[in-house]
Amino acid sequence: MNSRKDLLTIRALSDEDIRTILDSASAMKELLTKSVKKVPVLKGKSVLTLFYEPSTRTHSSFEVAAKRLSADVTSFTVSQSSVVKGESVHDTIDTLQAMKMDYIIVRHKNSGIPAVIARHTRASVVNAGDGAHAHPSQAFLDAFTIREKYGSIAGRRVVIVGDILHSRVARSTSLILKRLGAEVAYLGPGSLVPLERHTGIPRFTHFDDAFSWRPDVIYLLRVQNERMDSPFFPNAREYHRVYGVTEERLKRISDLDLAIMHPGPVNRGVELCDLAMEYRNCLVNKQVENGVAARMSILYHLTPHTRQV
Ligand code: CP
Repeated sequence: MNSRKDLLTIRALSDEDIRTILDSASAMKELLTKSVKKVPVLKGKSVLTLFYEPSTRTHSSFEVAAKRLSADVTSFTVSQSSVVKGESVHDTIDTLQAMKMDYIIVRHKNSGIPAVIARHTRASVVNAGDGAHAHPSQAFLDAFTIREKYGSIAGRRVVIVGDILHSRVARSTSLILKRLGAEVAYLGPGSLVPLERHTGIPRFTHFDDAFSWRPDVIYLLRVQNERMDSPFFPNAREYHRVYGVTEERLKRISDLDLAIMHPGPVNRGVELCDLAMEYRNCLVNKQVENGVAARMSILYHLTPHTRQV
């Protein structure tokens, strides 16, 4: 893989970069099965997690990943920092830059903030989710999980369901899957799914049409109420009936032997019924498990410019 300082989007990566990170994630996953789960590849390096938006999976798995690689990890808690006194992102970064961090993992509600930070620091910056723009580490763990399940990604069909409009996951995951030769379609209400002519991705508005397309994976997105100023559908119950995995729809998914994925956190009773979480081909917990290996691989392959001073 070419030397890269940052991971900001999937689009910025070459096909070779994507395959290299995925292949190394397999090696990292193998390592995680050993009794000693730590390697010294980032020993002496410092990793800062800088999350301006809430996170459970991404934050904790980057922290675990960095520790498995023997890095020193500092978690910057925005709610207890001078950000609440009005300090700007630039001034926060200048302050943190003075501490000579090697890696900064950043999540922010504004699209583009990780790129701004990347331009102002010698540290490697990883975009852990910026607004509705991109979530590249999620894309890697999703691709890894599909490859692990089916042996390859090329030719697989994935229907991404729901709130495409506000979803950085939909953007990054559909991009990586298409780059790896999968076919992707979107399913959801017209208010939340862009037209095919804007994305190049086929769009369904009825679950039955999506089933007729013969997918391998049904990938449900979280309804992002926090990014909606006004309702985009009548109510949660109606959304579940039309676009959720209801118990009835789960039966059909099971008969067709399809996999279910979701980036989390799941709104139970909206995207998925409780039974769906126990379905034999529900990969939600596998996605979380694979997040550590994928993020270890990402950190391993980035080259901070701090190494050159
Ligand atoms: N998938 C995802 O980004 O989850 P978190 O918000 O918990 O990090």
